[in-house]
Amino acid sequence: MLGIETSCDETAAAVVKNGREVLSNIISSQIDIHKLYGGVVPEIASRKHTEIINQVITEALDTAGVGLDDLSGVAVTYGPGLVGALLVGVAEAKAICWARDIPLVGVHHISGHISANYIENAELEPPFLCLVVSGGHSHIVRVTDYGKYEILARTRDDAAGEAFDKVARVIELGYPGGPKIDKLAREGDPDAVPFPKAKVNGADLDFSFSGVKTAVLNYVNAYRMKDVPYSKADIAASFQNAVVSVLTEHTMEAAKRCGIDRIALAGGVASNSALRASFEKACSANGYRLFRPSPVLCTDNGAMIACAGYYEFMAGVRHGWDLNAVPNLKLG
Ligand code: KG4
Ligand code: ZN
Repeated sequence: MLGIETSCDETAAAVVKNGREVLSNIISSQIDIHKLYGGVVPEIASRKHTEIINQVITEALDTAGVGLDDLSGVAVTYGPGLVGALLVGVAEAKAICWARDIPLVGVHHISGHISANYIENAELEPPFLCLVVSGGHSHIVRVTDYGKYEILARTRDDAAGEAFDKVARVIELGYPGGPKIDKLAREGDPDAVPFPKAKVNGADLDFSFSGVKTAVLNYVNAYRMKDVPYSKADIAASFQNAVVSVLTEHTMEAAKRCGIDRIALAGGVASNSALRASFEKACSANGYRLFRPSPVLCTDNGAMIACAGYYEFMAGVRHGWDLNAVPNLKLG
């Protein structure tokens, strides 16, 4: 299966055999262009995808040692994401499938992130619980079967990755903020500033990250107004601590309520070192088995799309030439 991913600022293609064996995984990042603007510029993202997608796919096929005629199908992210960016991948996948008369399988981007866990864990099968934390999503999901998801909790405002990116901007670390906060936090004290760990009334497993983001902004502004220096490392570590502890506590509570003892992590923020350490500790304390993809499979890539697409394909899913990009596609 060839997997194509262009939902945001990564142009990615991969060849995966039988859902779990990665033969190639090529990722071309646009970060160097978008960081000039402090975030992803949708129009630039679409243009850059069109410029490079053929090259990325050719490299994925060459590295895997296969040709288009060896493919059983093409899996492509068709939502959620930036509409112009998604359209590039969808049009490309349709063109290949039409030209070679092979099946087209549209994949939900988050289903891809969750499926990344299958790649390095041959023994992992549903059911399990998954914390999905990316730039656009913060969900606790019960995976009931391949491609079947039940959302147990969600964010009421910002996604976890979005909060990392916004806080990084406040303390002038640049884009993308997540990896920069992760790195700087290692030099700071996670207990230096007691940033709020927001609770949501009425839905106690849900998340809310706009409060902690505003608290960081107010904290920094107070120091700037007095022209007093502050420790960026302490802010990064304390903010990260507030976010990571809420993500861990809520996921452990969800697992307890569902009686599920296998927990997985997914999405770009799942590559955060403090989050991984916190989950390792909590899972071992509770006797849960933890699964988490290698960092390169946590952030956007084509292998996770090929993997998710394989299970859709095996379940008989085939999309037609009317497949369109769906920017706000729902999971489940
Ligand atoms: O899953 P992803 O690559 O794209 C989306 O589907 O959104 O996630 C990107 C997000 C960004 O917000 C980025 O700052 C965050 O993941 N991220 C991290 C780390 N690496 C990426 N956040 C915290 N720590 C990291 N190490
Ligand atoms: Zn993603």
